[in-house]
Amino acid sequence: MTTTTDTTGTFERLYGHAPEGVWAAPGRVNLIGEHTDYNDGFVLPIALPQSVRAQVRRRADGVLRLSSTRVPGEVVELDVAALAPGGVSGWAAYPAAVVWTLRQAGHPVGGADVLLDSDVPGGAGLSSSAALECAVAIAYNDLHGLGLDAPGLALLAQRAENEFVGVPCGIMDQMASMTCRAGAALHLDARDLSARHVPLDLAGADLALLVIDTRVQHDLADGAYAALRAGCERAAELLGLPALRDLAAADLPAALDRLPAELVPLVRHVVTENGRVEQAVAELERRGPAALGPILTAGHASLRDDYRTSCPETDLAVATAVAAGALGARMTGGGFGGSVIALVETAVADTVVKAVTGASAFAGHAEPRVYRAVPSEGARRLS
Ligand code: GLA
Repeated sequence: MTTTTDTTGTFERLYGHAPEGVWAAPGRVNLIGEHTDYNDGFVLPIALPQSVRAQVRRRADGVLRLSSTRVPGEVVELDVAALAPGGVSGWAAYPAAVVWTLRQAGHPVGGADVLLDSDVPGGAGLSSSAALECAVAIAYNDLHGLGLDAPGLALLAQRAENEFVGVPCGIMDQMASMTCRAGAALHLDARDLSARHVPLDLAGADLALLVIDTRVQHDLADGAYAALRAGCERAAELLGLPALRDLAAADLPAALDRLPAELVPLVRHVVTENGRVEQAVAELERRGPAALGPILTAGHASLRDDYRTSCPETDLAVATAVAAGALGARMTGGGFGGSVIALVETAVADTVVKAVTGASAFAGHAEPRVYRAVPSEGARRLS
């Protein structure tokens, strides 16, 4: 993980003037509620301390100049009026997407000089793309006085990713990045975006939340995500429901009897996973964070056996963490690689990390990177 500190100097060297401000938007990990957001269901993410920072200065000539400290020396120059879905590739597509979407939504915004700096690990299932979109969205909102609120900006960032980048993601990552609070998890209803900040004091309970980045991302990730989403939508249609969120747990057995075999495990995951989110919030409030452990591990089993978004690397990390004393563990995010979270008593954190690292090495997998996640603040202006 790299953190660049002298980015104001870099901005001036690149563009010949100072930025008007600096905005930050964090990555996230989801505690529970995976693949439920696009089924109008519930999720429980926290924001990470790692964030994308965007330094921005408006330009009057309709030119959007983009650079990133991760690709030193490269400046992507785009004509804002000519932006079109699919027309920009790589990392620059995300900030360009936000500017295109703002204009599509009727906001009178133009070009800018933008320098991005990030310590959110990329390709690790920690929402570095959503963080990038949200940092640019909040910067434009402030600089142009657009008056959009945090959920409005999250929806805009999601639309940018759906329509311009072409990834059919749900709303969880952008809402987490925009609206999470330090010391709390975000209990979000993805249907109407109503949300509650549930206090989560890990340190006070002598616990740590490890984020284990397996450093693998399997190629099927994008196509498989879209296929799973389409499968869920088909199942809801066959059941005559607006979304799978509308299927009550009590009606699950009867509903499964009416579905083609390939949709059964998908629906079972979504319905039981929504139940796990509600159970997690109740347990968190009644018994404290340690009670989340078994719910996390049950969520992983459902992703592994029913939704099939786990993979050998995440399965091994979860099984090893639990065997080494974690209270619970699961893959987090879209899947097919990416990161695993493990809830551990602080005293056994090092033992768990050692066990997971050793097991990965023994299996010939990439060496995982491990972070400790602290529930952190959502998107904000830094200066
Ligand atoms: C990705 C998507 C989210 C969500 C998760 C799975 O992170 O961007 O919208 O669907 O996968 O829970």
